[in-house]
Amino acid sequence: MKVGIDLIHFATADYYLGLDTFAAEKHIDVEKFTIGIGQERMSIAPPDEDVVSLAAKAAAPLLEQINANEISAVLFATETGVDQSKSAGVFLHGLLGLSNRCRVIEFKHACYAGAAALQMATTMVRANPKEKILVIAADIAKYDIDTSGEATQGCGAVAMLITESPRIIEIEPGSGFYTDDVMDFWRPNHRTTALVDGKYSTKVYLNSLKHAWEHFTEQTGRTFNDIDYFCYHIPFTKMAEKAHKTLVKKVGAKLTQAQFDAQTLPSQLYNRIVGNSYSASLFVGFISLLDNSLQNLEGKRISFFSYGSGCVAEFFTGIMQPGYQKVLMTADHRKQIDQRQPLSYQAYLDFYHKTDCTLENVVFPLNNKGPYRLAGIEDHKRYYEKTN
Ligand code: HMG
Repeated sequence: MKVGIDLIHFATADYYLGLDTFAAEKHIDVEKFTIGIGQERMSIAPPDEDVVSLAAKAAAPLLEQINANEISAVLFATETGVDQSKSAGVFLHGLLGLSNRCRVIEFKHACYAGAAALQMATTMVRANPKEKILVIAADIAKYDIDTSGEATQGCGAVAMLITESPRIIEIEPGSGFYTDDVMDFWRPNHRTTALVDGKYSTKVYLNSLKHAWEHFTEQTGRTFNDIDYFCYHIPFTKMAEKAHKTLVKKVGAKLTQAQFDAQTLPSQLYNRIVGNSYSASLFVGFISLLDNSLQNLEGKRISFFSYGSGCVAEFFTGIMQPGYQKVLMTADHRKQIDQRQPLSYQAYLDFYHKTDCTLENVVFPLNNKGPYRLAGIEDHKRYYEKTN
C-alpha cells in the first residue's frame, strides 16, 4: 500500500520586510543577506495573524477539494503555539467546522515537529487505510530586535492531507534519525522570542545531517545516487547550500555546479522570499520544488532532511506520483507571495511590538487580509473570525 501526501497547500502573511530595507536601517551591506545568508524578504505577521489563522488559510483551499467530514485526525506541528494546554489544532478544528469524529493534537520539537507529524500520520494510515489525516506545520519565527537572528525571521503554514494512494508523493517507509540534547536555539516559557547561539546552531545542524544520513543509509540501503532532488530544512537558503555541500562531500559525489544547483535550487525559491517558518520551512521548500521545477518529477525520488534545534533530525524520502501536476495549487501560492505588501522598518516594528502572547482584553484592528484572523483576546480567551 502506498501512503503519502495527497494534497498540499501553503499560506503566508500578507506583509513582508525586504532585507534591503532592513540592511539600510542597520547600515549593513545588503549582500551580507542576499549572498551571505541567501535571503531577500521575510514574511511578517500583523498582530491579528497567528499560527491558527495561518493554518486555516493554508488548510481551507485543500478542504474544498475533499469531503472535509472524512478528516479523522488533525496533527498540528508548531513551536509558536497559542496556549500551553489547548492545542492550536482545536482552535483550527472549530474555525474550519471539522467533524467531531476527529482527533486533534499538537506536536512540538522546534522545526522538527512538522516531519514528526507527517511520519506519525503515515504510520496511522498504514495501520488503518480509512484514515484521512490533516497535517499542519505552522510557525512565526521571531527573534529579539538587533540580534543576529533578526534577519532570519519569517512565517508560514503548510497543510498536507495524508492518505493511502496519494496523488502527490508516496512517503517511503524507513528513515534515519538523530537526537542530541544541545542548547543551540530555544525559547523558555516566559519568552515570546527565541534565543539562539547562531553559529553553533549551524554546526549542530550539519553534524545532525551527517548522523541522520548514516542511519538512513543503514536502515534503507538507499544511496546518494538513488535520490533526484534534495529538500532541506531552510532557516535561510545558504544553510541548505551548506547542507548539500556537506552531504556531497560525505558521500564523495562528483557533481558539476549545474547538477548541484538542479538538485537543490528549485526547493529554495519560496524560502528565499518568505524567510524561516520553522516547522513549515522544509515543506515550503518541497512546495517550492513542485511549483518551480522545470522538469517532470513523476517517478523521481525526493529526500527530506528535517532539523529541529535542541536537537532532533530525520532524513527520509518519497516517490513522486504520476499526474501529480493536476492537483498542485501553484497559482494560489504565487498570488499570495506576490500580493504581500512591503513594510517600512518602522511599520514592521509596530507589528512586532503589538504581537505579544501576554496581551489581555484586546480587540485587534483589521490588518490581516486573509480569510481568517485573530479578532481579539478577552478573559484570556482567543477569538477568531472568518472575514470573507
Ligand atoms: P551573523 O553573525 O549575522 O552573520 O550570523 P555572519 O557574520 O556569520 O555572516 C553570515 C554569512 O554572510 C557568512 O558566510 C559571511 O561570510 C557572509 P559563511 O561564513 O556563513 O559562509 N557575509 C557576506 N557575504 C557577502 N557580502 C557581505 C557579507 N558579510 C558577511 N558583505 C546567523 C548568521 C545565521 C548565525 C544568524 O543569522 C542567526 O543566528 N540566525 C538564527 C539561527 C539559525 O537560523 N540557525 C540555523 C541552523 S539552526 C536551525 O535551522 C533551526 C531553526 O530553524 C530553529 C528551529 O529548529 O526551530 C533556527
